[in-house]
Amino acid sequence: MTGGACRIVVLPGDGTGPEVLREATKILGALAENDGAPWRLEEYPGGAQYYQRTGRQWEPEAEAATRTADAILLGAVGWPGVSLPNGDIAGAALVLGLRQNLDLFANVRPCRLYPGVVHRISDGYRSVWAPETVDMMIVRENTEDLYTPTHGRLSRGGATEVAIDTRVITRKGSERVIRYAYELARKRARGAPGDGVRRITCVDKSNVLEGCRFFREVFDEVGAEYPEIVRDYAYVDAFTQWLVRNPEHFNVVVSTNMMGDIITDLASVLQGGMGFAAGGNIGTEHAMFEPVHGSAPKYAGKNQVNPIAALSATGMMLHWLAERRGDGAMERQAVRLDTAIAEVLRKGAVRSYDQGGTATTTAVGDAVAESIRARPT
Ligand code: IPM
Ligand code: MN
Repeated sequence: MTGGACRIVVLPGDGTGPEVLREATKILGALAENDGAPWRLEEYPGGAQYYQRTGRQWEPEAEAATRTADAILLGAVGWPGVSLPNGDIAGAALVLGLRQNLDLFANVRPCRLYPGVVHRISDGYRSVWAPETVDMMIVRENTEDLYTPTHGRLSRGGATEVAIDTRVITRKGSERVIRYAYELARKRARGAPGDGVRRITCVDKSNVLEGCRFFREVFDEVGAEYPEIVRDYAYVDAFTQWLVRNPEHFNVVVSTNMMGDIITDLASVLQGGMGFAAGGNIGTEHAMFEPVHGSAPKYAGKNQVNPIAALSATGMMLHWLAERRGDGAMERQAVRLDTAIAEVLRKGAVRSYDQGGTATTTAVGDAVAESIRARPT
């Protein structure tokens, strides 16, 4: 996989998706100014608004491109009032479809509070948690659980009587995502911010659900191969309070799909809000990176949302590509981007609305691009 420019498929999608990916493209351009670009961007339209216009979520060539791309960068999909005939969100093909079809089994969501960033727990814009207390990786299973198409309705005489979603937990699905999480814990030498323990926490509801009991069994089985990682357990309900009360306890967290979906939104509050939450959907052969926030229709077209999540997702993508291709130059570019994001946040001169400021989406992107230019390699 080394050598040659890699192909990055860019899917801006709906609402604020294109606005934040415009900033991502901008910072990739800024990185390329000094080092050249070992990547080529290919952009394709798609999503709910595209569906509304054309009756298709995206074009066949866009889908084909995602199958051969080296990586995919997604903005956001979804638009109020637009759904597919089967009731799914329009644009689902670009997010849920890709997770399934490219077998992107691990949804990796870092939760870190950068110095200079404030969050809104408790007291307006006064930060309660010091930055050094929030630094964890949440790994969410991404292909099964309540997200498989094993659902439906029973209708009699045209009226729905029963709606069923089947929760699917398999050995294969559990084992691979759990192993991914242990490998991540192995790489994180500094451990949990509170006590430095190299801890991995399994979040489930195994006091009630059979699928969760199985998930936890597999967690223990795989864990036997990682004796240096300390195993930790939390029922998801209790986890939600511990997460907010003692975020410094957590290092790597692994959970099933639906619970992982919910706890990562909660965790985003600790890192300053959804404007900071980035995620990587990782498989063996493919990966897609995205800000966790959705299309945010309320803010669409206002040049107001925080693009940092999209920029961090871009950074995750560069790290992933660099590692996969054994490309040291690309790894240095990823680090330059990390450094620039951290610098802009630490200085705090350019703040978007979610940080109590007035800086536009464009202004935040410009500030990160300037910081990149100020430190050429
Ligand atoms: C997420 C989102 C998606 C999910 C939606 C948009 C289908 O909430 O990526 O967390 O439920 O996984
Ligand atoms: Mn979600």
